[in-house]
Amino acid sequence: MAVGGFTSSTNDVEKNYPGKLTSYAAWACFTAAWGGLIFGYDIGISGGVTSMASFLEKFFPSVYRKEALNDSTDQYCKFESMILTLFTSSLYLAALVASFFASTVTRRFGRKRSMGTGGLIFLTGAIINAAAVNLGMLIVGRILLGIGVGFANQSVPLYLSEMAPYKYRGALNSGFQLMITIGILFANLINFLTAKISGGWGWRLSLGGAAIPAAIITIGAYFLPDTPNSLIERSFTDEAREELQRIRGTDVDVEEEFQDLVAASDASKQVHHPWKSIMERKYRPQLVMSIAIPFLQQFTGINAIMFYAPVLFKTLGFGDNASLMSSLITGFVNVIATLLSVFTSDRFGRRILFLEGGTQMFICQIIVGFLIKYAFGSKGVAVHLSSGTSAAVVLFICLFVSAFAWSWGPLGWLVPSEIFPLEIRSAGQSINVAVNMFFTFLIGEFLLKMLCTMEYGLFFFFAAWELIMTVFIYFFLPETKGIPIEEMYQVWKSHWYWSKFVPEEEEEEEEERKE
Ligand code: BGC
Repeated sequence: MAVGGFTSSTNDVEKNYPGKLTSYAAWACFTAAWGGLIFGYDIGISGGVTSMASFLEKFFPSVYRKEALNDSTDQYCKFESMILTLFTSSLYLAALVASFFASTVTRRFGRKRSMGTGGLIFLTGAIINAAAVNLGMLIVGRILLGIGVGFANQSVPLYLSEMAPYKYRGALNSGFQLMITIGILFANLINFLTAKISGGWGWRLSLGGAAIPAAIITIGAYFLPDTPNSLIERSFTDEAREELQRIRGTDVDVEEEFQDLVAASDASKQVHHPWKSIMERKYRPQLVMSIAIPFLQQFTGINAIMFYAPVLFKTLGFGDNASLMSSLITGFVNVIATLLSVFTSDRFGRRILFLEGGTQMFICQIIVGFLIKYAFGSKGVAVHLSSGTSAAVVLFICLFVSAFAWSWGPLGWLVPSEIFPLEIRSAGQSINVAVNMFFTFLIGEFLLKMLCTMEYGLFFFFAAWELIMTVFIYFFLPETKGIPIEEMYQVWKSHWYWSKFVPEEEEEEEEERKE
């Protein structure tokens, strides 16, 4: 039954599988979560590298001249260069395409193979980037990194959600986002240090540093077990039972959960064309979420900060050192606030975090918008911010980042990975990754242009989206905490709106008979 009109009660679900969080499952999830590190490292590294003079001079001489001569009188447009943003955003286009190939690998060959493939391709990209002597090499390296990210982001969240006991799914899945944020911070820190290296080759270390997380996930994936769900899906039924026993605890009766996984797998075998099936009316709630959640996650505007924090801070008149320092601060806040979500999403639920986070981000964007309007006005003439205004900008950006970090950041990966039935899970996750990457690409590519044309209005633009997403969650996203992943259809069945799309069991059986 719908509770409170918009949500479904977790009490409706009678399943209550026994099983604690074993150290074995915790180890597997911890190792797989390292996949987030490669994504995070990329996000964090490009902003810092593209603000290094030696890097700009070598690969983007026109941007370098513009900045060095300071021949732009308009602060907002100082860094605007399509080719520079292409360096950042080409990775996301490659990840988008790769996520569709990853869908097949993840479904046919298992989650861990997808992770390992991603790690290896990423490693190659990191090496090429570190050795780059021209723009072509740089872009090829970026594309390989993107393919790696596409595979990892497609498989790791699924792996975590399937491996975790359902009561801890939020915490363990948030490990992925935690690793993303650690990757970003690590990259910011590396940039901060390499920018100080004389001789102008520090950027090579920054780009090559990506090889470290890549090696970890490649080796880690080799030793990881696959998930019971995936083993059953690929007909390794005995191995799946043993695996389930091992991850839930040897003293636990796993029979009920195992039978449910087998039933889910049997149902999934009826589906030969997941891409066609996912379009069916009965999967509409999941399909809408797999598009809306990543789209809205990107329209929080988080990557305006994550990609371009040093550039943005420079635009605001901060010095080189202060810019990199400020991005370190936001990176640190990002990690700490994500940790909070690890401990809260299973206790308080996904919805409350989404709603609070969205509201807090909205307020912060409005304030930052006004602070910048007040400092630059609409001509963007280089007026240096007073130290009070600079501190206020950094403070509200940190409050914005923390709100994202305990809401849309982790939940943007967790919720899509837990709502799909097995038969369309891999395809659904690919849609989630592809949509996320597409809008990450758009933001990466057009953000500096938007800053140049919309000026401080950019912050109000994102604020408007934060309002929309909060209303969307309030009305359309049911609570998913504490529900076994293969029982998730119940939340749609008891939702005020989505219940119209989910057939009753009898109707479904009738439909299957007809087929
Ligand atoms: C998003 C990224 C973002 C990162 C920031 C992730 O969940 O998908 O686009 O840069 O969080 O922590």
